[in-house]
Amino acid sequence: MRHRTQVAIIGAGPAGMFLAHMLAMEGIDALVIERRDRAYVEERVRAGVLEQGTVELMRRLGLSDRLERDGLVHGGTNVVLDGRLFRIDMTALTGGATVTVYGQQEVMRDLFDAAESRGLPIVWNASDVALSGLDGAQPQVAWRQDGVEGRVDCDFVVGCDGYHGVSRAAIPADVLRTFERVYPFGWLGLLADVPPADHELIYANHERGFALASMRSRTRSRYYIQCALDEDVADWSDDRFWDELCLRLGDETAAKVTRGPSFEKSVAPLRSFVAEPMRWGRLFLAGDAAHIVPPTGAKGMNLAVSDVTMLGAALTEHYRERSDAGIDHYSARALARVWKAERFSWWFTSVTHRFPTMDGFDRRIQMAELDYLRGSLAAQRTLAENYVGLPLEAA
Ligand code: APR
Ligand code: PHB
Repeated sequence: MRHRTQVAIIGAGPAGMFLAHMLAMEGIDALVIERRDRAYVEERVRAGVLEQGTVELMRRLGLSDRLERDGLVHGGTNVVLDGRLFRIDMTALTGGATVTVYGQQEVMRDLFDAAESRGLPIVWNASDVALSGLDGAQPQVAWRQDGVEGRVDCDFVVGCDGYHGVSRAAIPADVLRTFERVYPFGWLGLLADVPPADHELIYANHERGFALASMRSRTRSRYYIQCALDEDVADWSDDRFWDELCLRLGDETAAKVTRGPSFEKSVAPLRSFVAEPMRWGRLFLAGDAAHIVPPTGAKGMNLAVSDVTMLGAALTEHYRERSDAGIDHYSARALARVWKAERFSWWFTSVTHRFPTMDGFDRRIQMAELDYLRGSLAAQRTLAENYVGLPLEAA
């Protein structure tokens, strides 16, 4: 194992792997240190909607072959209110933007395959990862792999180790500020090899709770229904799930749902979380290590991508132009975009879910909000520009 690298990246999720490829393309030496093995990281089931900026980054990094072939380009999205569906023409409202449905598992496979063929170094199964010297000139990362100690000196450490990682905890408590909302419900998700109900996504607000019709491909559907946080998956037979889903989607959409045996069913909690700052000394945070969004609007992976796009450019500027301007502005720039994505994900969650504390007033305000969305192109445009992804440098 080498003893020195320029950038040590903790975590081989989307944030860590996109950054590793960006740095490699700029000739910057990086080492990725990951706690689990490739199969574990690749097989985790996550969302699957890529903003245009994420698609463009995959192209720029030469990772888009399968994406161009298998990705489903969507120009619109749909909302069901009171059983009635309306469409938001995102392409028309944004001057041509689209999103692409392509599962995060596929993105990870492309990132790992290319890392292998390009020889990007990744330490798998690294336990006891420890960061030191982050406030000095030469940080170090130490770990243990198969009982053997590993260690690397570096210029910078990037914490891409997700919400439960060690990097954020390395920032002193008197520097770090965190902001959080925990939602009083979860999403019960199901995967099945049946054709999707529609060629686009459908978000439904129903008295009994939220439902979402999504997909992974033309033959694989992904459906979600809002559920209790302590919901036991074992209580949900496929039949019960399909019945509840169809009820919430309304007759018009339910008629297009193809039922079939599920091969994955799980409950995920919903949370909004932001840690500030995203840089301390020679440590940077990116992706879930710094922020979590509820899944409504599918911003999680896209936000990780926008963080590392900014950080990759800042590190390139440091090594190429000997300028630290990008590095010095990273936290503020990244957070400005993060908070807008937090706002959107929180808003989209708030107007589509049933909250246990809701009274008649809250419910009517929620319905008025969606009725306004149905009738106002201005409201639709606001949703559309956030959904397809705000520019990196938002005004
Ligand atoms: N040491 C090394 N690696 C670690 C450690 C640690 N102490 N702790 C966590 N990791 C690894 C995890 O095993 C995981 O592979 O860091 C990686 C973090 O990946 P993600 O949780 O996917 O986070 P991120 O890359 O920021 O992706 C953000 O993608 O997976 C989705 O829900 C996520 O939508 C979000 C987006
Ligand atoms: C998904 O397909 O998993 C998905 C799609 C859209 C969302 C959230 C999740 O808003």
